[in-house]
Amino acid sequence: MSNWLSVQNLSVDFMVGGGLAPAVLRALRSVSIDIEKGTVFGIVGESGCGKSTLARVLSGLTAPTDGQVLLDGKPLGMDRDKAQRRRIQMVFQDPGSSLNPAMSVCRMLSQLLSFHQIVPRDQIEARCRALMAQVNMPVDALDKKPGSLSGGQRQRIAIARALALEPEILIADEPTAALDVSVQASVLNLLSDLIRDLGMTMIFISHDMAVVRRVCDRMAVMYLGQIVETGPTGAVFEDPRHPYTNALMAAVPRLVPRAAGDYQMLKSEQPSPLARIEGCTFRGRCPKAGPVCATLAPVLDGGAHRVSCHFPRAGTNPVTEGSSHGH
Ligand SMILES: Nc1ncnc2c1ncn2[C@@H]1O[C@H](COP(=O)(O)OP(=O)(O)OP(=O)(O)O)[C@@H](O)[C@H]1O
Ligand SMILES: [Mg+2]
Repeated sequence: MSNWLSVQNLSVDFMVGGGLAPAVLRALRSVSIDIEKGTVFGIVGESGCGKSTLARVLSGLTAPTDGQVLLDGKPLGMDRDKAQRRRIQMVFQDPGSSLNPAMSVCRMLSQLLSFHQIVPRDQIEARCRALMAQVNMPVDALDKKPGSLSGGQRQRIAIARALALEPEILIADEPTAALDVSVQASVLNLLSDLIRDLGMTMIFISHDMAVVRRVCDRMAVMYLGQIVETGPTGAVFEDPRHPYTNALMAAVPRLVPRAAGDYQMLKSEQPSPLARIEGCTFRGRCPKAGPVCATLAPVLDGGAHRVSCHFPRAGTNPVTEGSSHGH
């Protein structure tokens, strides 16, 4: 079923400032995504574009202002019961903040396993050991507290904690960004092995385009709370249609060999999510912006590979080459 996990017109507004000058910060603006079971979906975009906010809404940690999340056709809101909470688990960027420093790994995992009644009481210890094996950690790590583990080991424990609940969806929000470069690859390899072996569905949020390309089946590019391009990972990388996606690819020129002039670097900064922008939110940084972009917001349009732009780059795909797209 193609719409197994379906995010529909999701918006999140945060009230900021307070006092005499409260303002609305629009962190997500009508985001829609469909994710197939057993696939890996990547989300990329600059800092502050709303990636973690989206992840938090999916996990039930942040309430949406509008829109909904459906899993297997049924709404998954903030009021999740124990069984529903298990279904989507998250691994955060900073493993330190997501683990209780006062608890040994064994106690933390045992509590979870018994609270959610994952295995009978007499099998809890064996399951804890099995979880350590699954994340390539020695069994004696069970007796340790997070403080005595390295960053990479803590992230493995955070992954074990998520796996303990046997979730259907694992959200990894920049899982290696806070780790030493030397251990990033092993944690990434662990995650990609797990997805393959367990047939789990994963949402992978990352700044690392090369990793997204390697592990994700489909992906979305976000800009200022919106999805500006989405499609199969290969198509988005090899045939980026949105000027912003082009610019992101420009930051990793060796990824896709291409004529240098095809990519344009962005000059300015991403606008504040507090700003009210008429028309296209990207137009202030866009090398292709025309009068229509100032008045009319583009909509995400297309088939499997969709783009939200009045002047998308004409595709290299022969079917769309030479069409009326472009300018
Ligand atoms: N609880 C909150 N209250 C107010 N504003 C928030 C809150 N959480 C996030 N924001 C704001 O919402 C916007 C989106 O933030 P978010 O953390 O989702 O971005 P991100 O894409 O995950 O960024 P990064 O790549 O830096 O992790 C930002 O402008 C952020 O400051
Ligand atoms: Mg984030």
